[in-house]
Amino acid sequence: MSHQHLYEAFYNQFNTTTTPRLFFAPGRINLIGEHTDYNGGHVFPASISFGTYALATKRTDNKLRFYSMNFPDIGIVECELTQLDYQPEHNWANFPKGMIKFIKESGYNIYSGMDILFYGDIPNSAGLSSSASIEMVTGVILEGLFQLKIDRVDMIKLGQMVENDYIGVNSGIMDQFAIGMGKSGHAIHLNTSTLAYTYAPIQLPNHAIMIIHTNKSRALADSKYNERRTQCEEALADLQCELQIESLGELSPEQFEKHKHLIRNNTNRKRAKHAVYENARTRDALKRLAENDLHGFGKLMNESHLSLQHDYEVTGIELDTIVETAWKQPGVIGARMTGAGFGGCAIAIVENDDIKAFKQNVNRIYEETIGYQATFYTAAIGDGAREIIGEVI
Ligand code: GLA
Repeated sequence: MSHQHLYEAFYNQFNTTTTPRLFFAPGRINLIGEHTDYNGGHVFPASISFGTYALATKRTDNKLRFYSMNFPDIGIVECELTQLDYQPEHNWANFPKGMIKFIKESGYNIYSGMDILFYGDIPNSAGLSSSASIEMVTGVILEGLFQLKIDRVDMIKLGQMVENDYIGVNSGIMDQFAIGMGKSGHAIHLNTSTLAYTYAPIQLPNHAIMIIHTNKSRALADSKYNERRTQCEEALADLQCELQIESLGELSPEQFEKHKHLIRNNTNRKRAKHAVYENARTRDALKRLAENDLHGFGKLMNESHLSLQHDYEVTGIELDTIVETAWKQPGVIGARMTGAGFGGCAIAIVENDDIKAFKQNVNRIYEETIGYQATFYTAAIGDGAREIIGEVI
């Protein structure tokens, strides 16, 4: 989608000649540390070059008009700045609406309506955080158009609030954090219990990070996600009968093994086991990377997938087929599902020379097993949410 195409669509849809400003927020992948962010654990995501573009202008009245080039059939969604409650019929536009509502309610002066056109090139229902990307692009639009200085971490927290309290998905803070704080060529090591973070350079001259989309629609993913979170909370409550901890992220695997009998329900025990071990793996993975031990990092990625498959049970046949096939290919350093799971994408670190064969082999076996093809992308790690001034898109 060219720059010019976006502007033309804006002028046509909103029937205006006012020049809009251009904003962008990326999607994200997570290298390791899955389903740890709402357990007070560590995560290691990176913002990618796919994301959400938005063109926006202020209006002279209080109307908000939203249009997405990804959902042309829905057309323009319109509402008043004073009526920002969730409306099912507003569909995708509830994401920017929720963000405007929460930023406004935090005391920022949003004094007029807006016209906003969105275009996202994040593959559909890929689990690469298109919703957090829309939230964060809305945040930077408000900052830009209304000359606000919103502390970035506050903006990130408001994005998470939109998911939790407006949309009804009890997600953690990883996606908004990765998108809000993303830095080209770096992944972010975030401790979700303190929000302390560091950037780790991802320099892989001989390898690429491949994103492999299962093309499986993520149906019912939200309710299953919320169920996993509740199971972890129940496990924590059982452990708290004897242990003075506030999150599963505080436990080492050794402490977990010593006290796991306190968790009364078998399923909950498996969920908690994943959260604790995945957190340890993530911290370990950081060390491996710092020591340039890419193979060690890859091994931890593989272990992460197995844990998500057997203990957390969020993978499914599509992701398992891709990941297990990837493991057998030459030049593969590691592979795992990324994001919430239940469909969506896997990632694999693959040697540059083997990428072509990797795609062919994985796709052939995937199609034979599942009945349709996977889609392959090479991940480029780009910058976080921002206004685009003079950049070529
Ligand atoms: C989704 C959520 C995140 C995180 C991941 C799993 O992407 O939005 O907060 O929990 O799943 O790691």
